[in-house]
Amino acid sequence: MTQDELKALVGQAALQYVVPGEIVGVGTGSTVNKFIDALATMKDQIKGAVSSSEASTVRLKALGIPVFDSNEVESLSVYIDGADEIDHQGHMVKGGGAALTREKIVAAQSKQFVCIADESKLVDALGAFPLPVEVIPMATARVMRQFVAMGGSAVVRLKDGQPLVTDNGQHIVDVKGLKITDPVAFETEVSQWPGVVTVGVFALQKAQVCLLGTAQGVKTLNF
Ligand code: 5RP
Repeated sequence: MTQDELKALVGQAALQYVVPGEIVGVGTGSTVNKFIDALATMKDQIKGAVSSSEASTVRLKALGIPVFDSNEVESLSVYIDGADEIDHQGHMVKGGGAALTREKIVAAQSKQFVCIADESKLVDALGAFPLPVEVIPMATARVMRQFVAMGGSAVVRLKDGQPLVTDNGQHIVDVKGLKITDPVAFETEVSQWPGVVTVGVFALQKAQVCLLGTAQGVKTLNF
């Protein structure tokens, strides 16, 4: 199976976690796009979605799925999202699609995080994928120097030759060369640096379930 087919497989499998009559939390990315397409087949059975990005909102609305502001919803039973990396404990690196801040917000209001990913995303230790960090632009250089002091190398993510601007009006720094041996400690520390909006390690809000697309079918990992 191609990577695209594996993404479609887990996108479809995630429907079993959607609670009829409720609002579902929806992440961002190419795997989530497959989930949104699958969700459209049961749109009459749900109230709607809380979305983690403008891109997912556009796709949900185009398929006729109502999108609620996160402030209108106290809690969600489930949040379905992809990952750039997931380890064997359910800790993730996210933000390859620059939506990490809103993803962490929707994950925080959800009782269960179901990660959908193809098997290439499963890793023994986080850190091979460049770590996305959303940063307030006036702090970019300082935050990058702090990552260099940690042994990493950091670049500002560009789009059309200019710093990419997130849905929240901020920039993204991508950090290579980090060994994230203690994801909870790492997330806790970097989240406190002045100017860091969100670090793309999801350890405090890790996944409870991963639906992993493999050549043998969907494997369910519980954490
Ligand atoms: C977006 C994300 C995505 O979940 C992550 O980048 C995985 O994306 P894809 O499903 O396209 O591989 O964190 O900010």
